[in-house]
Amino acid sequence: MFNLILFGPPGSGKGTQSEKLIAKYGLNHLSTGDLLRSEIAAKTPLGLEAKNIMDKGQLVPDEVVIGMISSALDANPTAKGFLFDGFPRTGAQAQALDNLLELKEASINVMLALDVSEKELVKRLLKRGETSGRSDDTNEHVIRARITEYHNKTAIVAEYYRQFNKVVLIKGEGSVDDIFAALSKEIDERNKE
Ligand code: AP5
Repeated sequence: MFNLILFGPPGSGKGTQSEKLIAKYGLNHLSTGDLLRSEIAAKTPLGLEAKNIMDKGQLVPDEVVIGMISSALDANPTAKGFLFDGFPRTGAQAQALDNLLELKEASINVMLALDVSEKELVKRLLKRGETSGRSDDTNEHVIRARITEYHNKTAIVAEYYRQFNKVVLIKGEGSVDDIFAALSKEIDERNKE
């Protein structure tokens, strides 16, 4: 099993690169943001609760996202590996993920962390907000709140994996194809069967 965390602040290109990486490597894509937006679209109680929090640019509670990831792992017992996008986002989520993978005699192979300046993040997200329909993209105040949550609660997750020597920083500005090539190179070096 090859398990990869694609890490980075809001707007750093995690979703864009995930689509290309899962197509190339046949990994299961687990995006907690996408899972939460599916709950919102289905108007489930969890989705309604999450929407209020997401619209403010804050993180939803750990137990909610950990539960979603646990179910998704159990639902895909024959997966050749997972690409985690937008998860883990807190130290507690990282610890929970390690525990869940250990139960499957697996672990995180590498965290690829996209590095993008705050100015570029805000520019990308405001631009996407013109057409995406994502309510957390339309307002610069909310975009900046998401970035602040990242600095306050999520950036430390990279420190957690750094102690196991699993973090590689990737320049996240430039063409989508160049960034994809840099990510692929790191995966190829570690995913030799
Ligand atoms: P989530 O859905 O995870 O959103 P995010 O982290 O804010 O990330 P985005 O999807 O906005 O950006 P991205 O890095 O995927 O970049 P993308 O490829 O889309 O989370 C949303 C909310 O859900 C959170 O705020 C939180 O409330 C909640 N949540 C989710 N997971 C959670 C968790 N684990 N715990 C607690 N709460 C959680 O690209 C962005 C834009 O840039 C696009 O328009 C794209 O076309 C463009 N772009 C991409 N690459 C490039 C490039 N190289 N050059 C120019 N433009 C580019």
